[in-house]
Formats: sequence, structure tokens, C-alpha cells
Amino acid sequence: MNKTALVTGAGSGIGKALSITLAQRGYHILLVGRDHNRLELASHEISAFSTSRIFCTNLTDPVARARLTDSVLAQTGTPALLVNNAAVMPYGAFLNATDAQLQETFATNLAAPADLTLRLFRSSIHQQMSKQHGVIFVLSAAARFPQPYNSLYSASKAGLRYLAESLQVEMDSHIQICLAYPPLTASPMTENFIPPNRLIQKSSTKLVAEKIIAGYEAGKFEVAWFDWEAIPSWFYRFAPKVFRRVLKSQKQKLQQLFK
Ligand SMILES: NC(=O)c1ccc[n+]([C@@H]2O[C@H](COP(=O)([O-])OP(=O)(O)OC[C@H]3O[C@@H](n4cnc5c(N)ncnc54)[C@H](OP(=O)(O)O)[C@@H]3O)[C@@H](O)[C@H]2O)c1
Repeated sequence: MNKTALVTGAGSGIGKALSITLAQRGYHILLVGRDHNRLELASHEISAFSTSRIFCTNLTDPVARARLTDSVLAQTGTPALLVNNAAVMPYGAFLNATDAQLQETFATNLAAPADLTLRLFRSSIHQQMSKQHGVIFVLSAAARFPQPYNSLYSASKAGLRYLAESLQVEMDSHIQICLAYPPLTASPMTENFIPPNRLIQKSSTKLVAEKIIAGYEAGKFEVAWFDWEAIPSWFYRFAPKVFRRVLKSQKQKLQQLFK
């Protein structure tokens, strides 16, 4: 079996930890990101466990995505695992967002994972893959309930969630699709996030990555945490109108969650 894993956003945070965890399990890792120095550092850490290759790629660029997937397919074939992890989170009021932020968020968080999955697995429909291949979509609680002042991120992750859930049905016979909902985790993305109270702690990237990969290996369709964000998720699911009223009453607090 081809034990290659392509991980996007592999130079930092959860993506880097996922790359190291997969390397410890013997995968050859294809590290994708924009920052070459960070990818080199990740590659160096991985070298204690396995081999890796760096693809310095801006995933917002469709031409760069095509170049990446063509090169991967030509050199290593369809990877055993694609981890759609890279994302950006432009926090703030929707009307303050720039055109560039709007384009970047949907391109990175939604178009890129859809495009990479399509390009890398399009040929699988003619092959006997029998679930030796898989895709992990790294989602967020922001895909489970609307997050005012984080609207672009929330909308892009909700779109990604429905893409992933649709593929779970469509590709059921030959590709394992796993949805991961990490908890609040200490990473560059959340360094400006101020937890609203002391009970809310940031998880470590290592523990988050290990749980995601263990869940994937166990054949789980979804890896989620029972944490503080589970409450609004369930609340929104069962009482969306009441939930929206609560959000409106908390507008000021929601605006202040990031420095
Ligand atoms: N941290 C949390 O609390 C949390 C909670 C739930 C879900 N998540 C999800 O977990 C995933 C990882 O986030 P993180 O917390 O680990 O944050 P992070 O360290 O900021 O990771 C995001 C990664 O995406 C890459 N990236 C961003 N734009 C890119 C682009 N245009 N092309 C290529 N790579 C790009 C970045 O690499 P470069 O800058 O090198 O390109 C970076 O390595 C994301 O999907 C996030 O939504 C995080």
C-alpha cells in the first residue's frame, strides 16, 4: 500500500502535529504550505521518524494547486491520505473585511480542499481502492453553529463540512472520509484569542493530532471533542431561533473574543 500522506498547512499548529504523528506511523509526508522556513523545520522534526518532501504552494492559486497535484500524482501516485488542514481565520466585523480577506478565506478554506480532493482522487473512481485511501477534513465548531464576527471563517467551514459529509456518501465504497472538529487549540491561529473565562483552556496540538489520527485509523467518520463548544453546537441544532436571540444579546462579548 502507498503510505504517503499529503498534509496542507503542515508548517505550523495542528497541521505540523498531524504530519509528525503520521510520520511516527511510517507515512512518507508531503508537506504543503507557503512558508518555506517553517516547512523545513517541520521536515527536520519528521526526519527522526520518516521521510518527507516540501511543496511550497499558495493554495489560493488554482494554477499552483494544479501544479502541486500533477507533481504528486506523477512522483508518488495517489496519496494514501490527504489531510485538508490549511485555513485562515480573519476575525472581525463582516463589513470591515477587505476584498482580499474574503477571496483568501473561501479559496483557502473551501475551494482548495475541494480542488485537491478532486484532483488527487478523480482517477480513483476507476481503481479498486477499497478504503486504503482516505481524506481528513479539518473542520471547526464554527462549522456547527454561526459565529458572528467570525462570519467568513464560519461560512467557509460550514461549506467544507457539507462537502465532506456529501463525499462520505458518494465515496463510501472506496475512500474513507473523516471529519475532524478540533477543540480550541494553541496555535498561531488562536494566539490572539482571549478565552472568555478561566475554565476554557487551549489544547495542545500534539494531543489533538494524536486523537484525530487514532480516530481515522479506527475508521471513524467523525472525530470530535466534548468541550465547551459542544453546548452551542447542540443548542443551535435543536433550538436555532433561541440560539440566534442569545447571540444577539451577546454581541458585545463576541466582538471582544480576539485582541
Ligand atoms: N487552533 C484552533 O483552536 C482550531 C480549532 C478548530 C479548528 N482548527 C482548524 O485547524 C486547522 C489548522 O489550524 P491551526 O490552528 O493549526 O492554525 P495555523 O497554525 O495558523 O495553521 C494554518 C496553516 O494553514 C496554512 N495556510 C494558510 N493559508 C495558506 C495558503 N494560502 N496556502 C497554503 N497554506 C496556507 C498556514 O501555513 P503558511 O502560512 O506557511 O502558508 C498554516 O500552516 C485549520 O483548518 C483550522 O481551521 C483550529
